[in-house]
Amino acid sequence: MPFAHVAMTRACIHRSTLGTMETQHPHSGSAPIGFRGRDKLTALFDAAVGGDSPQAISAALRSALSQLIRDPEVELPDRVLEPATGHYARRELYRSPAHGYSVVAMTWAPGQGTPLHDHSGLWCVEGVWQGELEITQYELLERAGERFRFRAATGMHAGRGSAGSLIPPHEYHTIRNAQADAIAISLHVYQAPLEACSCFNPQDGEWFLREATLLATDTAA
Ligand SMILES: [Fe+2]
Repeated sequence: MPFAHVAMTRACIHRSTLGTMETQHPHSGSAPIGFRGRDKLTALFDAAVGGDSPQAISAALRSALSQLIRDPEVELPDRVLEPATGHYARRELYRSPAHGYSVVAMTWAPGQGTPLHDHSGLWCVEGVWQGELEITQYELLERAGERFRFRAATGMHAGRGSAGSLIPPHEYHTIRNAQADAIAISLHVYQAPLEACSCFNPQDGEWFLREATLLATDTAA
C-alpha cells in the first residue's frame, strides 16, 4: 500500500498496548547473523520463494517454516530468547541477496503485542517458534482519507509449529502473546525488508486513524 506521500511524524516501532515504545537501535544493515542451521533454513526459504505467485510462495514458506521449527538442527541465536522491556523485540536475522526476502525473529513477553497494522503491501509468512500467539485479521470495510473502518474477521490461536500467511490486500492484523506466563517467539519471512508500515489507532466504533510508522530493529547478535 503506497504511503510515501504521508509525512512520517515520528520514528517509532509498533507500539505495545502497554505504552509507547522507545526508539531502538538503528538498523544494523544486512550483516549476516550466524546461528546453527542457518544454511539449512536459507536453502529451504530460497527454494520456497521460487514460486510464481504470492499464494504458491506463501504455501511453500509455511511448509518450510513448520519443518524448520521442528528441526533440532536449527537453533535461533541466543539473543532471540531474550524479550525486550516495554516492547516486543524485532530482530532481523537474514536478508537474501539473491531473492530480496527478509527473515525477522520477534520475541513477545507476556502482555506484549502489536496495534492493528498493515505490511505496506508485502506478503509475509509467520511461524510460531516457541509459545503461543493470538493473531487477529481484520477486513477493511471502507476508507475516508486517513480514516479506515475495519472489522475483526478471523482470530487464530497459534501454537508452536503453526504457520500462517498474510497476502495483500488481506494484510491487516494484530498479534499478541497468548500466554500470561511465558514468552513467545515467532519467525517472519517478508517479501522484502519491512521498514515502515501503517498502524491504525482506534477512534470511534469500527473507525481507526492511520499513522505512518517506521519500524525499528533490535540488535540480533
Ligand atoms: Fe505484522
